[in-house]
Amino acid sequence: MASFQSNPLLLFLLSLMAVVASASGSEFKLGEEKATRLHFYMHDILSGPNPTAIRVVQGPLNLTGFNFNFGDVFVMDDPLTKGPNSTSELIGRAQGFYVFASQDSADIALLLTTNLVFKEGKYNGSTLSILSRDAIFAPVRELPVVGGTGVFRLARGYALLKTFSFNTTSGDAVLELDVYVMHY
Ligand SMILES: *[C@@H]1O[C@H](CO)[C@@H](O)[C@H](O)[C@H]1NC(C)=O
Ligand SMILES: *[C@@H]1O[C@H](CO)[C@@H](O)[C@H](O)[C@H]1NC(C)=O
Ligand SMILES: *[C@@H]1O[C@H](CO)[C@@H](O)[C@H](O)[C@H]1NC(C)=O
Ligand SMILES: *[C@@H]1O[C@H](CO)[C@@H](O)[C@H](O)[C@H]1NC(C)=O
Repeated sequence: MASFQSNPLLLFLLSLMAVVASASGSEFKLGEEKATRLHFYMHDILSGPNPTAIRVVQGPLNLTGFNFNFGDVFVMDDPLTKGPNSTSELIGRAQGFYVFASQDSADIALLLTTNLVFKEGKYNGSTLSILSRDAIFAPVRELPVVGGTGVFRLARGYALLKTFSFNTTSGDAVLELDVYVMHY
């Protein structure tokens, strides 16, 4: 019968427990929580020679009266600008993907998963992460902001998304975002 002391697996587990038990930590106070509001436009361009979003998977189920299919997956690297015109000042990009995740043609919704990467001013290099349902034909959609980096470390908040323009033939869209975040 193997003795307790000579069982190598048990010895390994015991030494692991000792390491975990001795792991050191220290508590600290975060700075004051701040609230920031951001307003900008996002250009999701599917057509032409320089699309900003590309379909990487085409789903099999055509959504009635619509050029998209349940299961379509698009990868996006959309410019974010100060104003609605595509020539307006670039302030960042929305990099991520969206999936047509609703089978109901009367209530088309995306799963939109994207990082907003800011490229100018005091937010340059900081990011906000959005994980949301985007019911694209609703007049206003509320998107949860689930985190951030840099200036927006520990961010939480929401973004209100409105369609500024949408070309139903090409699928090109300009979207208006109002983002409200708490961060430190
Ligand atoms: C889906 O159906 C619409 C009309 O309902 C049609 O215009 C479109 O071409 C179809 N798309 C595909 C990929 O079959
Ligand atoms: C966008 O800006 C360009 C040049 O700055 C201008 O020619 C064009 O009319 C503007 N478009 C709109 C829709 O305002
Ligand atoms: C943003 O930061 C990058 C990297 O530090 C830098 O190269 C770039 O010039 C900055 N852009 C602006 C507009 O400040
Ligand atoms: C919508 O897209 C189609 C196809 O790319 C294009 O021919 C048409 O001019 C666009 N409409 C507007 C208002 O931009």
